[in-house]
Amino acid sequence: MSDLARRPADPIVGRTVAHESAALHVTGRAMYTDDLAVETMGVLTAWPVQSTHTHARVTLDVLPAYGVPGVVRVLTAEDVPGVNDAGVKHDEPLFPVEAMYHGHALAWVLGETPEAARLGAAAVEVTYEPLPSIVTLDEAIAAESFQGAQRTLARGDAAAALADAPHVFEGVTAFSGQEHFYLETHAALARIDSEGQVFVESSTQHPSETQEIVAHVLDLPSHQVTVQSLRMGGAFGGKEMQPHGLAAIAALGASVTRRPVRLRLNRTQDLTMTGKRHPFHISWRVGFDDDGLLQALEATLTSDGGWALDLSEPVMSRALCHVDNAYWIPNVHVVGRVAQTHKTSQTAFRGFGGPQGVFLIEDILGRTAPALGLDPAELRSRNFYAPGQDTPYGQVVKDAERMPAIWQLLRAEARVDERQAEIAAFNAEHDDVKRAIAMTPVKFGISFNFTAYNQAGALVHVYKDGSVLINHGGTEMGQGLHTKMLQVAATALGVPLTQVRLAPTRTDKVPNTSATAASSGADLNGAAIKNACEQIKERMTGVAAGLLGTDPDDLVFAGGQVSAPHLQRSVSFAEVASVAYFSRVPLFAAGYYRTEGLSWDQERMTGSPFKYFAYGAAAAEVEVDGYTGAYRLRRVDIVHDVGDSLSPQIDRGQIEGGFVQGAGWLTLEDLRWDTSDGPGRGRLLTTSASTYKLPSFSEMPDDFRVHLFADAREDGAVYGSKAVGEPPLMLAFAVREALREAVAAFGEAGRSVELSSPATPEAVFWAIEAVRAALPVAR
Ligand code: MTE
Ligand code: MOS
Repeated sequence: MSDLARRPADPIVGRTVAHESAALHVTGRAMYTDDLAVETMGVLTAWPVQSTHTHARVTLDVLPAYGVPGVVRVLTAEDVPGVNDAGVKHDEPLFPVEAMYHGHALAWVLGETPEAARLGAAAVEVTYEPLPSIVTLDEAIAAESFQGAQRTLARGDAAAALADAPHVFEGVTAFSGQEHFYLETHAALARIDSEGQVFVESSTQHPSETQEIVAHVLDLPSHQVTVQSLRMGGAFGGKEMQPHGLAAIAALGASVTRRPVRLRLNRTQDLTMTGKRHPFHISWRVGFDDDGLLQALEATLTSDGGWALDLSEPVMSRALCHVDNAYWIPNVHVVGRVAQTHKTSQTAFRGFGGPQGVFLIEDILGRTAPALGLDPAELRSRNFYAPGQDTPYGQVVKDAERMPAIWQLLRAEARVDERQAEIAAFNAEHDDVKRAIAMTPVKFGISFNFTAYNQAGALVHVYKDGSVLINHGGTEMGQGLHTKMLQVAATALGVPLTQVRLAPTRTDKVPNTSATAASSGADLNGAAIKNACEQIKERMTGVAAGLLGTDPDDLVFAGGQVSAPHLQRSVSFAEVASVAYFSRVPLFAAGYYRTEGLSWDQERMTGSPFKYFAYGAAAAEVEVDGYTGAYRLRRVDIVHDVGDSLSPQIDRGQIEGGFVQGAGWLTLEDLRWDTSDGPGRGRLLTTSASTYKLPSFSEMPDDFRVHLFADAREDGAVYGSKAVGEPPLMLAFAVREALREAVAAFGEAGRSVELSSPATPEAVFWAIEAVRAALPVAR
């Protein structure tokens, strides 16, 4: 076993503990970025002037805003001392001369109160010179409106294999995006201290990059700017790159006025200004042999990137790297390109393109199974990777045998075979209500595709009284990273959890951090914390050995004591710390970790970008009403591989939450934009929770059973654990596939069903109508 994975006896990792902020969350005492503004004296509020055109050249007259009482300043491009750009790709002017989407912020008004700033923003006069706009993916494809690099992932000879395959199908799979709808909208609070240092509180998943953007907008070196991410009220990828410009506005406002500036988007602003999950349009051809084994896949994936690149290219790379999901496809030729449209700039969202890639192959298998004469679950499992096989990008699929093992376990736990028979009997007796159960697998690559991001740092302090303070580069967004990090430190130092405290994430504590993303927050930061703790522990071991009169190798750190079991003697961790201090032994350390063994050629799309794969499978049973298309999730069973869990309750929450969020994307959440030629063209129509249906309690499965795959140690990760943040989202394909099979039950057996996306009750209803219309006898 690797040192990284090995656990001491009775470790604190692996225990069921509550989220470190659970009590604060439920009592409303947890502080978020904007809560800090309330206590900030003399704080100004920033309010955007949003474009009312989808694409237009703009000129501003800001003077009228100064006539509004309480308006202090209107920020425009002229105020920017550095680069007028908020994007890493330098394609996102902070103050644009061209409005690129409906709602684009053109200028920002600083007011003594939110009301003054709002009225000031309304008073700014904007002259629009309208330009033609592209608002749908189909329009973008027709106009060949693309941005960024086009990538191809290829193996074997897909064209030849398709020519030879006995069963070839082709089709188009198109699906919509998703709004993050984190409870906490984007927020920033900036101030300049007496030394001219810029301090920005930001609801950001990527404090270091927020720091870099703020610095280049203000024309400052990075050491002049500190960014803190206290905690986020949900992020889901939506705060990986989108916070930067907003933080830069607050910092610019603070630097121009020398007063603290608060920026918090209200819900409508957040919805109309910030990026969402990428919608995709995919045309494909697939070939199978007579046994239903995949022979070849050819596809062109086009994502709707919105007006700027943001993370669209890496999102597409991850989509291409997940079109195989858990299946061996010998010949592959898939092309990915990013469309440019006049919409918000679409961004990271839990799974980061992975779900879009998986969507393709699951849709293909669900659609083709009837034509191949196979049960969809059988078709899926026949195609699972066998040990030793590699992905289309050339990475051997480590632990491939876990997938069929999980599948078998799920089948048994969920009693799938018995329930299939019960469902068949139910459906035979009911003409207007149908049930179905479907199983889908997930295999998800863990690590950032981009190798350099796979590193992390930590800073650990042990004080003379034995109390421990940890800092690390990861951010907390509700996923429980900090809880796990406390458990890791407590385990590594052998102290109780209560003896360790975690300080908010700041760029002046740990520099050059990666985004907390790609589900690798615990893997990377956990290993860095463990590394720092081990350095300190080693030094303390020398001190304790002297105190106990024994060999350092005989010592055990556990429960806040350092013991020499063979001598039955021990001394408290605190006492060792105190003696260490007086012996001039340093009690703090910087920890570092980088994931070894990764390689990735971005141009050729080959290599071994992932440390390992996370596996899982879900079985979902639905009941569909033939009159309305409304459905209920009767039961969901999940078997998911989290390695040896660092924190089982946290992991369970991630699995349940990820699954439900995925089901929301696939079956409920319906982003609508005005695609008409009228004056509202390009406007987002779903601008609140009243028009954008989110999963709520009533959509939870009636019976929800989550099983963690047992004895699943991952040798390449901290204390044998696995990443869990994103993979469970893709378990939700089981719901979509169950809906497809329930719809099919309304028609003649053996027909393929196409389900539009999202599979809302309305979409399900029309799919039922289509299968009914194809029945031989009109009803
Ligand atoms: N869980 C909660 N409660 N809130 C979130 O914002 N973000 C998800 C996932 N789980 C998220 C969440 C996303 S997109 C990622 S990449 C991971 O958490 C990031 O955290 P990790 O790397 O610590 O798992
Ligand atoms: Mo998650 S989409 O990698 O922030």
